[in-house]
Amino acid sequence: MSSSTEGPAVTTARRGEPLPDELRDEAERMSREDLRALQLRRLRTTLRHAYDNVELYRKKFDEAGVAPEDCRALEDLARFPFTTKADLRETYPFGMFAVPMDQVRRVHASSGTTGRPTVVGYTENDISLWADVVARSIRAAGGRPGHKVHISYGYGLFTGGLGAHYGAERAGCTVIPASGGMTARQVQIIQDFEPEIIMVTPSYMLTLLDEFERQGVDRRSTSLRVGIFGAEPWTEEMRREIEERMDIHAVDIYGLSEVIGPGVAQECVETKDGLHVWEDHFYPEVVDPLLDGVMPEGEGGELVFTSLTKEALPIIRYRTRDLTRLLPGTARPAFRRIEKITGRSDDMIILRGVNVFPSQIEEIVLRTPSVAPHFQIQLSRPGRMDHMTVRVEARQGATPEQREAAAEAIAKGVKDGVGVSVEVVIVDPETLERSLGKLRRVKDLRGV
Ligand code: DLL
Repeated sequence: MSSSTEGPAVTTARRGEPLPDELRDEAERMSREDLRALQLRRLRTTLRHAYDNVELYRKKFDEAGVAPEDCRALEDLARFPFTTKADLRETYPFGMFAVPMDQVRRVHASSGTTGRPTVVGYTENDISLWADVVARSIRAAGGRPGHKVHISYGYGLFTGGLGAHYGAERAGCTVIPASGGMTARQVQIIQDFEPEIIMVTPSYMLTLLDEFERQGVDRRSTSLRVGIFGAEPWTEEMRREIEERMDIHAVDIYGLSEVIGPGVAQECVETKDGLHVWEDHFYPEVVDPLLDGVMPEGEGGELVFTSLTKEALPIIRYRTRDLTRLLPGTARPAFRRIEKITGRSDDMIILRGVNVFPSQIEEIVLRTPSVAPHFQIQLSRPGRMDHMTVRVEARQGATPEQREAAAEAIAKGVKDGVGVSVEVVIVDPETLERSLGKLRRVKDLRGV
C-alpha cells in the first residue's frame, strides 16, 4: 500500500476499495423512497411500543398532547418530546426498559462525568441488530470476512469492546479481544497475530504508535490496513497523522450507548467524507440546540436520534449533545451522512466570551512542526479572568529554538483562528498523560 503526502492538509488523498454489491445488506441497496417507507413503518411501531411500555414516555407524550398515531409522516416526529440523559438518570437503573427483565439479555452503562451512570438494556434481537450494524460498519471501513480484527476498545460496561466484538464476529472476521491497557503487550500481539484491522479510540492509537516506536518496530510495515476509530472526537489532521505514520486507512465510527453503542454511523473507506447513518435502524434529526426546532438538511446543530427497531430500550428523539449537520448520502446513496463530529455542546469552553472546542486546538497543534500530537488544555482563573494553558509535547530531538517557534506558532494559530489568547507551554516528550481509552483533553482547575 502506498501513502500519499500530496494535497492540502485537510483532505485525505487515499481512498479504499468500494464494497462489492454482494457484500451489501439489503438496506444498503434500497432506494431512498423505499428506505423512508420502511422508516415510517418502524417509527410508528416504536412510538407505540414506547408509549405502551414505558411510563416516562407515556407521561411525556400525554403532556405534549401527542399520541403514537399522530405520526403519519416522518416529519411528524418533530411534534414528539425529546429524551435527555436526565430522563435516563431519573429512571435509573432500569426504569426506561420496555420489556420485562427476563427478556433483557445484557446491560451496559456509560459512566458520565457527574452523577449516576446511564444504564441501557438489550434483548436478544437488540444484540443481533447491533452485531448487524457493526458488521456493516466494518465492511464499509474495508473489513472483509477472514480478516483479523484487533479490538482495543475497552470491554465491560462500556459499549465499545463488546459492540465491536459481536460485530466483527458477525462480519465473518477473527476477533482478537485485546481490550484497553497493557500497551506493550498489545504491540507484541499485533506483530505476532498480524491483524488487518484495528478498532480503538484515536487517542489510544497514538499511545500504541508511541509504543511501536519504543519497541523499535517499523510501524508502516505492520499487517494493519485499516483503523476504525471512534468513541471520541478526532480531526482530519489526526487522520492524516495516523494514516501517514501507520500507512493505513483511518476511518470514523460513531455511536452512543443510549442509541445502541458503536455502529450508529460509519464512514465509508471509498469516500472518507463523513459518516453514513444506518438509517434503517436509527432515525437522525439535527435540531437547534437552544430553540429546539428541526434544522433543514445541511445546517449545523445538535444531533438527535430515534431508534426504529430496538426492543429493550426504545429511544425517542434523544438529545446527543453532539454537534454536526446532515448531508445527503454518497457511497451509500439511501443513507444520509453526518459530518465528522468534532465537538459536543458540553465540551465547548467559553473563554472570555469566545467559544472554543478542543478539536480546534487539535487541528492547530497537529499542523505545527516539532511538536508531538499530544496536548492537554488547562483552564484556570488566576484573577478574575479565565486563563487557558495549552500544554503540548515536543517531538523527540526538537531543539530549544524549535520548541519556542512551535509555542509561538500555536499561540498565533489560536489567536488568528479561534480568536482568543492562550498560553502555550511546550513540555518534554513523554510527559503528558496518555490515553487508555477515551481521552480527557481538558483539565478544569477553575473551581479548585
Ligand atoms: O463511545 C460508543 C462507541 C464505542 C462509539 C466505540 C464508537 C466506537 P458512549 O460511551 O455512550 O458510547 O459515548 C458516546 O461519544 O455522544 C460522542 O460525544 C462521542 N463519540 C462517539 N463516537 C464518536 C466519533 C460510545 N466517531 C459519545 N466522533 C457520543 C466523535 C464520538 N465523537
